[in-house]
Amino acid sequence: MDPARARRLLAQHLRTDQLLGLDAVPIHPAPNHPEQPTLIQQPAGHDRGPKTQAPPRPASTPRLTPAPPPIEIDPSLPKAEALAQLREHLATNEAVLAKLLPGTQLVFGEGDPDAEIMFIGEGAGADEARTGRPFVGKAGQLLDQMIKAMGLSREGVYITNVVHFQPPGNRVPTPDEVDLGWPYMIGQVQIVKPKVIVAVGGTSAKALLNTTTGITRLRGQWHTFDAVQIDGQGIPLMPTFHPAFLLRSYTRENRSKVWNDLLAVLAQLGKEAPKRG
Ligand code: URA
Repeated sequence: MDPARARRLLAQHLRTDQLLGLDAVPIHPAPNHPEQPTLIQQPAGHDRGPKTQAPPRPASTPRLTPAPPPIEIDPSLPKAEALAQLREHLATNEAVLAKLLPGTQLVFGEGDPDAEIMFIGEGAGADEARTGRPFVGKAGQLLDQMIKAMGLSREGVYITNVVHFQPPGNRVPTPDEVDLGWPYMIGQVQIVKPKVIVAVGGTSAKALLNTTTGITRLRGQWHTFDAVQIDGQGIPLMPTFHPAFLLRSYTRENRSKVWNDLLAVLAQLGKEAPKRG
């Protein structure tokens, strides 16, 4: 192949991988490479899950600006009402509305207000912005299958994003866009109080953990989401690959990594995946 064309194709592939949350290219498959731990470690003695070791701390970079303050929602409200109020607040936020591309909608979270597991993705894609619902496109359908394989249903978990609109050209959200979504994402976590958060993809994991470390190194290990405290403790957080990345790199290795991450999430809740027949 003409070297210029090969370079162009490679650049395109790398850009797509980056958009999907992958920020390292494995050159030699190395199952026991320290940067790609296959061993699942459980989070520290969290009183809402099995006792385990201290969660490894990622090399993190503090935010350059303070996190935007949370939105005050009456804590005595039933969870469904509190979520509805938060959604209404988002729908009237002029700065957020100004970001809506023509013909697109805001995408708030959905699911069980009492969910034990909250999946947090990056931001709306075209299908989500058209329907106003998170994870309904091809990647969302794969996420649904993954949730089903865990023995759960989409309605039984809570699914949201760091950013509640579609960034132009489907690009990775900017720090400003993440800041706009932050109080609403935090608000949903505060209201639902999940026992475990799954950060779906690199952008989400980096934003939630306030780190520049990439998903290849973050996934497969327990972290703690400290921005919301429940009974004085952060929430155990498992980063995993984005299903859009899996769709592109549908290898046995990648699928088993994601599946191991999800099994660790179930184990953290004292559950097991149903046996496959
Ligand atoms: N990707 C995301 O991160 N979130 C969605 O809602 C859809 C695709």
